[in-house]
Amino acid sequence: MSDDQHDHQRQGADGEWTIRFDSVSKSYGEAPARGRADERPAAVHDLSLDVRPHEVLVLVGPSGCGKSTTLRMANRLVEPTSGRILLEGEDVTRVDPVELRRRIGYVIQNVGLFPHRTVEQNVATVPRLLGWDRRRTADRVAQLLDLVGLAPGRYARRYPHELSGGERQRVGVARALATDPPVLLMDEPFGAVDPVGRRRLQHEFARIQRELGTTVMLVTHDIDEAVTMADRVAVLSEGAHVEQLAAPLDIVARPATPAVADLVGRGRTARMLGLGRLSAVDLSAADLRAPGADRGSSTTGSGAAQERRVPDPSERVELGAELTDVLDALVRDGADGVDVWDGDRVVGRATSATVLQALRRVSEAGAA
Ligand SMILES: Nc1ncnc2c1ncn2[C@@H]1O[C@H](COP(=O)(O)OP(=O)(O)OP(=O)(O)O)[C@@H](O)[C@H]1O
Ligand SMILES: [Mg+2]
Repeated sequence: MSDDQHDHQRQGADGEWTIRFDSVSKSYGEAPARGRADERPAAVHDLSLDVRPHEVLVLVGPSGCGKSTTLRMANRLVEPTSGRILLEGEDVTRVDPVELRRRIGYVIQNVGLFPHRTVEQNVATVPRLLGWDRRRTADRVAQLLDLVGLAPGRYARRYPHELSGGERQRVGVARALATDPPVLLMDEPFGAVDPVGRRRLQHEFARIQRELGTTVMLVTHDIDEAVTMADRVAVLSEGAHVEQLAAPLDIVARPATPAVADLVGRGRTARMLGLGRLSAVDLSAADLRAPGADRGSSTTGSGAAQERRVPDPSERVELGAELTDVLDALVRDGADGVDVWDGDRVVGRATSATVLQALRRVSEAGAA
């Protein structure tokens, strides 16, 4: 992205928001005839929502609740029935739709690749529109295909029908990223990718997003994907009603409504393990040891007879580690406790009780 675009985004966003939904409603179908009320409830009813600059805002909610409709109104694939949508300070209805779609990348649910164009032609769609030269376009396409894990030599010349569903989705993601748009709308972008590939893509995508500072609105059914990828999660119910809009940990630890609790569901504790991080306050006073203390004389009384090896840095449990990694280490080492490191020194020991304590703390902090 050019510096120009960055500046534009910052100014337009007023430092506060990049996209603003202001009392937006959408009813599909004809306007109700005189004297006859439209029976159908609005797909989106009176939605007000800000997407902040450079954040990943994830919309999650049941099928048919209006997630795709909400996204599609932001780039005018669907026109709102009432209300306003502002992009970088500008009413989107005043922006030419073609111009708008150059500024907003879009990953479509069920991909929507052009069937008669090859993978490379699909990814090159927007660069072509923008008049990039052949060389620059080809370089960018190759770079993006690599990024999404599709070797250009193998995939560039294929047609969409020669790809698996997950591969098609990855082409869709590459296409949307082609010109580093400042805003990206993503509708179930990783839905058809297998779990391992999906985690890899989520991870890669998060890295690119941070690097480019892209403002992202992403739709998913998958609460785990939502809490992993989001800076903030909006849980929606029918009519795109916002049940809760909060940081992932707050959503998981403190569901605001029964609908959110339902969504977070039985895996709630497991999800907190993935989101919560080990803090010095979780280590009980008895576990805290001075740096350089005799490694054999643990005050926990659990490991005195045990052989203590100095673990490889990659295996160390550090302050700030995800709780799930602390638990992994406890299981892996088969010990009652594992050393907790802060840089080069051991600052304490974590036991299963430590993890429980951290979970309780995280769950209470969620209330704040
Ligand atoms: N083009 C359309 N014409 C008429 N009704 C539509 C149209 N598109 C969507 N709807 C209706 O609007 C509501 C919201 O649809 P939308 O596609 O936004 O849901 P969604 O949350 O994206 O669902 P999913 O998770 O299944 O993709 C649904 O009741 C749907 O049937
Ligand atoms: Mg949808």
